[in-house]
Amino acid sequence: MYDRAYNYIKQRIDKPPKVAIILGSGLGELSRQTKSDVTIDFSDIPGFAKATVEGHKGQFIFGELYDKYLMVMNGRLHYYEGHSMKDITFPIRLMRKLGIKIVIITNAAGGINRAFKPGDLMIIKDHINLMGTNPLLGKNMDQFGPRFPDLCNTYDRELISMAKKCADKIGLNIKSGIYAAMSGPSYETPAEIKMLSCIGADAVGMSTVPEVIVCAHCGIKVLGISCITNMAAGILDKPLSHQEVLDTADRAKDDFIGLIKAVVNNLDIRY
Ligand code: HPA
Repeated sequence: MYDRAYNYIKQRIDKPPKVAIILGSGLGELSRQTKSDVTIDFSDIPGFAKATVEGHKGQFIFGELYDKYLMVMNGRLHYYEGHSMKDITFPIRLMRKLGIKIVIITNAAGGINRAFKPGDLMIIKDHINLMGTNPLLGKNMDQFGPRFPDLCNTYDRELISMAKKCADKIGLNIKSGIYAAMSGPSYETPAEIKMLSCIGADAVGMSTVPEVIVCAHCGIKVLGISCITNMAAGILDKPLSHQEVLDTADRAKDDFIGLIKAVVNNLDIRY
């Protein structure tokens, strides 16, 4: 399954990328800033399930940014779409086979920490998996990693500190915090957000954690960045909407692109 997808992509690109960026809801603009050589639709890749959510395009873009050859994943698969954990994390194992060493994972998230405001960017320090499942359930894929992977340095400390320095340099007031993953697709209740706040979550979303766990399993370093697109349920006295998520992500895109570009420029990747 992975071999066919790997062979398909390999024959369409001239060199292997070492860094991948996964773009979350409404954050697809970055893919237009990459000097693109090759665009591959998910639907053309053998074994790839189809993305369905609005704001998610479903393409890999291979191209250069600051002399670094990147694999940009525009759109992702979500658990709430009904995809299996195996399908959601298929791209990560594909990345591993292609030789990716670092994945920058982005998402839209609801702010739980009251010091946050919509439009803020949050570096993910750690996560709480409340999706009710784990992508590594079942027989271990020994070719990718160990049965019981360690998750203590899942969000790479060096990448976090580098990203913070980059944010300072470009004058961005970056936040950092814990990301809690829920399955969705309904947004949380105010009571659930209170609970998440009590257990230490700063932001909540419906993605990222499955991919991150599989990155940890197969030895890919992760930098996670959330765009706080709205305050989570019950924090403000107003209902949540997907439109607000997309509108805020659009408003934050210059900061977001500025940060990602600075991070990519600073990555110490040798070919
Ligand atoms: N909850 C869950 N997922 C989200 C939210 C939220 O408030 N905002 C963006 N993604």
